[in-house]
Amino acid sequence: MLGALPTAASLYERVRRVIPPIEWSAFAEDIDAILDLKRRRNAVILAHNYQTPEIFHCVADIVGDSLALARKAMTVEADVIVLAGVHFMAETAKLLNPQKTVLIPDLAAGCSLADSITAEDVRLMRRRIPNVPIVTYVNTSAAVKAESDICCTSGNARAVVESLGVPRVIMLPDEYLAKNVAAETDVEILAWKGHCEVHERFTPADIREVRASHPGVIVLAHPECPPEVVAEADFSGSTAAMSDYVERQKPPRVVLLTECSMSDNVALQHPELEFIRPCNLCPHMKRITLTNIREALEQNRHVVSIDPEIAGRARLAVERMLAV
Ligand code: 13P
Ligand code: SF4
Repeated sequence: MLGALPTAASLYERVRRVIPPIEWSAFAEDIDAILDLKRRRNAVILAHNYQTPEIFHCVADIVGDSLALARKAMTVEADVIVLAGVHFMAETAKLLNPQKTVLIPDLAAGCSLADSITAEDVRLMRRRIPNVPIVTYVNTSAAVKAESDICCTSGNARAVVESLGVPRVIMLPDEYLAKNVAAETDVEILAWKGHCEVHERFTPADIREVRASHPGVIVLAHPECPPEVVAEADFSGSTAAMSDYVERQKPPRVVLLTECSMSDNVALQHPELEFIRPCNLCPHMKRITLTNIREALEQNRHVVSIDPEIAGRARLAVERMLAV
């Protein structure tokens, strides 16, 4: 016999430690509605690690970093994919699932890195520096990916760069990710000037302060942080790599220099560990809410579509990455 289907009431236990009952009462109705809509529409929700706990732990079917979401998007058996994350992630899911309906609950969920570069910028770069492969971070529009040779995420950037077997690559658009990868490889990396508005705000002084006030704390930093921050951290990796580090090493005291919901989500899985702030909020990720996920499923909005000519070339760049 099949087990009982989850309901908001049965899911509360998962998030009780970070969501007080008064807030939960505002979420429960949307959660029940979303669970029902997912069944009726044969839909799945893919949620990035930066989504708030009531989304991440209660309605998401697949969670992960950008790389995991791209990989798992290909295996989804559903008619509809709702991407609880930012627009470039929804575009990647659509590139890999051209036949499926991909919805993003708020079209304005952007990304400062994706906004830092246009397809014309990439064409210009290629003309100015010919015969050097262009590795593009997935945090870009499909139009930018279409002008690129291969994509990467923070989880595979070094492997992608080294897979090309060339002495020099152009890496777009995150200057800090490019410099952090350059510190780990012999391949020369030419960078662009894009920054993540969330991670660029962390400083080495933040790390010194947290170490002074919380002796023994282990510092994990996302590679979108400035290189001087990564240099002072104990470990740097994608959101999934940070989560795996906590799972493996179980540091009694830990700080994640990244988006705030990430710490909340990982902390819920490790009640025995002490999670220290600081963290910074991503205003784009925070545009996704239970209410607009529910509306996305009720009203079939906002449907992600990509010009087929752009999609063909962008898909190739993503598929090359996935083959590494
Ligand atoms: P990850 O690929 O590490 O999940 O990072 C995505 C992102 O947007 C980080 O700011
Ligand atoms: Fe973009 Fe930074 Fe937000 Fe990630 S955290 S979506 S890189 S702005």
